[in-house]
Amino acid sequence: MCGIVGYIGDKNAYPIIINGLKRLEYRGYDSAGIAILDDTVKTYKCKGKVADLEKFVADKDISGNIGMGHTRWATHGEPNDENAHPQVSQNGYFTVIHNGIIENYSRLKKRLKDRGYKFVSETDTEVLANLIEYIYLKGKVTAEIAVRLALTKVIGAYGLVISCKDEKDKLIAARKGSPLVIGVGKGEYFLASDATPIVEYTNSVIYLNDDDVAILKKDELILKTVHNDRLTPKVQKVDLEIGEIDKNGFDHFMLKEIFEQPRAINDTFRGRISADNTLVHLGGLFNVIPQLLAAKRIIIIGCGTSWHAGLVGEYLFEDLARIPVEVEYASEFRYRNPIIHKEDVIIAISQSGETADTLAAIKLAKNAGATVLGICNVVGSSIPRYTDAGVYTHAGPEIGVASTKAFTAQVTVLTMMALVLAEKKNTISDKERKRLIKELVNIPKTIDKILKNSEEYKKIAELYKDSENFLYLGRGYFFPVALEGALKLKEISYIHAEGYPAAEMKHGPIALIDKNMPVVVIATKDGSYEKIVSNIQEVKARNGKVIALVTEGDTIIKNLADHVIEVPQNDAALAPLATVIPLQLLSYYIAVMRGCNVDQPRNLAKSVTVE
Ligand code: M6R
Repeated sequence: MCGIVGYIGDKNAYPIIINGLKRLEYRGYDSAGIAILDDTVKTYKCKGKVADLEKFVADKDISGNIGMGHTRWATHGEPNDENAHPQVSQNGYFTVIHNGIIENYSRLKKRLKDRGYKFVSETDTEVLANLIEYIYLKGKVTAEIAVRLALTKVIGAYGLVISCKDEKDKLIAARKGSPLVIGVGKGEYFLASDATPIVEYTNSVIYLNDDDVAILKKDELILKTVHNDRLTPKVQKVDLEIGEIDKNGFDHFMLKEIFEQPRAINDTFRGRISADNTLVHLGGLFNVIPQLLAAKRIIIIGCGTSWHAGLVGEYLFEDLARIPVEVEYASEFRYRNPIIHKEDVIIAISQSGETADTLAAIKLAKNAGATVLGICNVVGSSIPRYTDAGVYTHAGPEIGVASTKAFTAQVTVLTMMALVLAEKKNTISDKERKRLIKELVNIPKTIDKILKNSEEYKKIAELYKDSENFLYLGRGYFFPVALEGALKLKEISYIHAEGYPAAEMKHGPIALIDKNMPVVVIATKDGSYEKIVSNIQEVKARNGKVIALVTEGDTIIKNLADHVIEVPQNDAALAPLATVIPLQLLSYYIAVMRGCNVDQPRNLAKSVTVE
């Protein structure tokens, strides 16, 4: 995915665009570019990050009140100057920035080549720019008509901002599959892939829908469909404080977001749990409770960390509400002709609400007639709009590419859902349910306590920062936590790490264990405690180094493990929320000590809007 920013108004466009790109850099950071419209269209772009672009334009003319900017995560063509956006059409009429993929670009490119077009980049975006120009010149139509006609020929996904050198008083924006938000100011409009670059100027926004085309002048907005039907723009208020999208004194967004988890979890259950901590009420599910109660099974879909949260959900729903659950990678589910019944309830989990595979899996499930619910963090994103109902996590913007607070907020929602269903199905006693609700409400305090131990995690990080491999083991509710711990480590520190159900270790991974293998074991006291103690002994017998997460006061494992990290006692159903925190911090400190770019790990982007 890529980040898009646009501005049209009376202010200098450059600072607005460059600051906006910095806010969106989590979406992609392999090259960046801007175009400023003045008497001419001034386009500057280069390989590298937004900071490189800033250096590159330092001595250039960047004056002008209209412009667009782009920060890229490469799909077509390697990250280099030519493939960076904006892409300009062959004769310079159209300048385009694009987030998404034009799937039929090679066919369109061939046709344009047959008509004499030459290409300087390998991008699908340049094909689109040239297609628009070709239609514009050949059909002698307005820029808007050329854009709309071109878009009817395109298969794929796009969030676009386009300008035409003959109509320099306007920007044209369009969306299909890739998000685009318009900020509405006084005599000015902002455009961005999400609201974060906009909120410091205005909190009035319009979320474009698929097939929308917006024609923006500084004091006029025309919204229509790609087929030229006029639409009435729906202006909404976005509830986002500028402080939420700054680092607030932390070295990295990831660290800030780890420390925000008590607040994020609290915000996620606030207003959804009765004042006396006895009932959970999820307004977003009100209309689908009958389907949930009648469901023969729940299928949870997601990718990456959201998939791990789904695995915790599986344990929760089966354990507390006695509903069978399957957890599927969205990318596998959608491609393998799955059997979906009308009585199935699908829960799609996604921080961004824009992950292409998850969206495609949702569409598949909807077409099969199932009820589809969403658990998303980004308000107004695509997934909440495609689902029948859902529950927002209130984690606030997550900027660090490695997901942290989104995970615990997702697990919080899943816990609340399981508790609602357990109540309605009477699958656990009232006493037990109330005890769990009380414990959930107490989780932010537990996490606060765990966060105070960061010096301890730093010491362990220092000892193991040069390891080449890590194993993470957990049983039951802690198996997904082990997977999540391993994912955090590999994505930000580039250390190879695997998560396993602890009992599976002896079916293969045990062969990897020697004195150089750190093994992180989630070994808090719950039903499988004795078994996990045996697993630790198995590792120690092969000279592995054990870093064990234990319940406060544990003495047995203290005598076995090389290092212990203590966490307060929790019910196993709630313990993933607490036990994941030390693992996030351990990964964070190791990555920092290895000199890795924690917030922008190599090859990654915050949300994957390509399939
Ligand atoms: O926005 P989503 O939750 O749908 O994103 C899913 C994954 O791409 C995401 O969790 C990814 O695995 C993160 N980098 C994990 O830290």
